[in-house]
Amino acid sequence: MTVREIRPGRAWVLEGRTTAFALALADDGVVRQTYVGPRLGPGDDALLAHADPAKAGAVFPVAGGLEFGLPALRLAYADGVRDVRLALVAAVVLDRSRLALTLEDAAYGLRVLLTFRSEAAYDLVVRDARLEIAPGHAGAVVREAAAGALALPPAERYRLTHLAGGWACETQVRRDWPGEGRFEIGSGTRGFTGHAHNPFVALDDGSAGEESGRVLFCALAPRGDWRIVYERAPEGTHRVVAGYGADDFGWRLGPDAPLDLPTIVQGLSLGGFGAMSRALNAYVRARVLPEGRRSCIRPVVYNAWEAAGFAFDDRRLRGLADRAARLGVEVFVVDDGWFGRRVSDRAGLGDWTVNAERFPDGLEALVAHVHGLGMGFGLWVEPEMVNPDADLFRAHPDWVYRFPGRPATEVRHQLALNLARPEVAAFVAGTIQDLVARYGIDYLKWDMNRPLTEVGTTGDRPDPLVDREAPARHTAAVYAILEDLKARHPALWIEACASGGGRADLAMLARADQVWTSDNTFASDRLAIQEGYALAYPALTMDAWVTDNQEAQASLAYRFHSAMTGVLGIGADVSRWSGREVLLARRLVRQYKAIRAIVQHGDAYRLRRPSESAGRESALLYVTPDRGEAVVFAFRLMATGHGVEWPLRLAGLDPDRRYRATELAPVGAGAIRAEASGLALAEIGLALPLRGREASRVVRLRALSGRSRPEGAR
Ligand code: DGJ
Repeated sequence: MTVREIRPGRAWVLEGRTTAFALALADDGVVRQTYVGPRLGPGDDALLAHADPAKAGAVFPVAGGLEFGLPALRLAYADGVRDVRLALVAAVVLDRSRLALTLEDAAYGLRVLLTFRSEAAYDLVVRDARLEIAPGHAGAVVREAAAGALALPPAERYRLTHLAGGWACETQVRRDWPGEGRFEIGSGTRGFTGHAHNPFVALDDGSAGEESGRVLFCALAPRGDWRIVYERAPEGTHRVVAGYGADDFGWRLGPDAPLDLPTIVQGLSLGGFGAMSRALNAYVRARVLPEGRRSCIRPVVYNAWEAAGFAFDDRRLRGLADRAARLGVEVFVVDDGWFGRRVSDRAGLGDWTVNAERFPDGLEALVAHVHGLGMGFGLWVEPEMVNPDADLFRAHPDWVYRFPGRPATEVRHQLALNLARPEVAAFVAGTIQDLVARYGIDYLKWDMNRPLTEVGTTGDRPDPLVDREAPARHTAAVYAILEDLKARHPALWIEACASGGGRADLAMLARADQVWTSDNTFASDRLAIQEGYALAYPALTMDAWVTDNQEAQASLAYRFHSAMTGVLGIGADVSRWSGREVLLARRLVRQYKAIRAIVQHGDAYRLRRPSESAGRESALLYVTPDRGEAVVFAFRLMATGHGVEWPLRLAGLDPDRRYRATELAPVGAGAIRAEASGLALAEIGLALPLRGREASRVVRLRALSGRSRPEGAR
């Protein structure tokens, strides 16, 4: 049982494997979060059930009355009243794992349906919310909306760990100590998740470490613009509200227009940031990703973008495909430029017909060639956008976002299509479905290379408040198209991309199998970007290519090793690789295939973090859930300074088993062949000296049968 009513109609506890949240109805009719901490025994139910909720934080604070803090809901009813009074009208425990609370403002027919789902195996609580107006009521305009608030236990102050950055430097780990007031991350008015911030935050009192201490955290599955706000009130209370962004949001709530709020996934780790990431990563792998592909091994992909850009034709791609196949690549992806008059980024976007000059025999011929080589065929699309110099725009100039009489802002010479309009969304859906079916596409890369601006008109409804619905409606249309694609083509791999990692979030990961993490493919930069990405999202969704795009060319092995910590891909111009490089790459691809189940489906331990070593070091260990197999990656990122002489202490192994360590050397036999107990490897560590510029080593560990210590010897 993971959700229990501990006082009839008044108090509930949501339990995970090791932690628990408790909620209770206070005398003022507000449901408040009375406890978050380690899971207590049933003997403590009585104490928990009668904890005084009066001072605890509301789970769904609403603007009105004396609530001056950050609300989960702020709205204006049709008659201008901006005061919400909610009463709990129903509380039901469903399937012993969900608590459904219905709150009502009866005078206006407003119903708030809150669901708390305990994902006990991962120590997470998943929160959904829906706003509805009963028939016969006039409705309201919603201005701020979130599935709820997370109340933090009393503390002097909190440290926030979050992910910030920009194009080519996504998901950089940041640590801040906000003072009294509000600290907000979000998408602003970009209309999509964006590069600036990622919808994830972790909070601790400053004492949590990688493998110790308490960390409260939440991640959001956005439905358009989003924000996560931490509020520290001068009277000493702390809350986090995560939901729709409020900079330019408005939703006309009516009997025929309910509003679903972005899902919040929240949890408490008792084992530091490492346990937090492992819980989130495992949850995404098992419960979030599209069902058909959850337990699958991600293929090694070749993508021609960095090698060819817009300079390719059928012949060039065949040549690259032949070489990729010889390296052991499993999917060959044709990126931007295969359609319309798309010979640069200035024209053709939106014209999704194959460019006959590049493909005189049609795309079918290339698809057949690639399939004949034993590889899957992948195709890039950017369906939400159009170049003004494209037939699609000439035919439908009214399909882009813009305010009447005002110029539409161009980014990368392109405009955003108004997918909030059903006919535009239907066109996009039909076009992509048709492409996938017609060419037998195995892998679709869905790109989005500009934010939304001037979200001006929404179809035939010029009401300026309704225009503010556009980012949410646009996002809902994208999600529906992706869901439909997956439903019709369960075997289709989908990669989410937005100029690199601009769409890395839980909502995309429910509809796409993988994420293009960043356009920055410099191996050392990538290790820092990947550290941040993996804080919330699992390695089997983290696409990483080996490219030639290296200012100070790191060795091929180093570039491979960096990419092998996620889903290995190749984006280099392999037609220029020497015979030696080809042999080396083949060997490294083989090595990756031998360990990728551990990387992609294992638990990750961050042994050294770029963000905590002034960008100098990175070391990661992936271990299978049964701890029978593991792989360690160690990197020295900086070319300057002393070498790294660490014995790497290996967290995550079974202390009671003996492991054989074998180095996966790029060439010849590795220096390391050793045997030791998991305990010794954790306490003494593995010596893995790294010298010279950008150096790396990879060691595979296999548990030997039998135990290394007698039972109970600890
Ligand atoms: C941005 C993506 O991140 C790149 O990988 C590539 O697909 C380009 N767009 C193509 O325009």
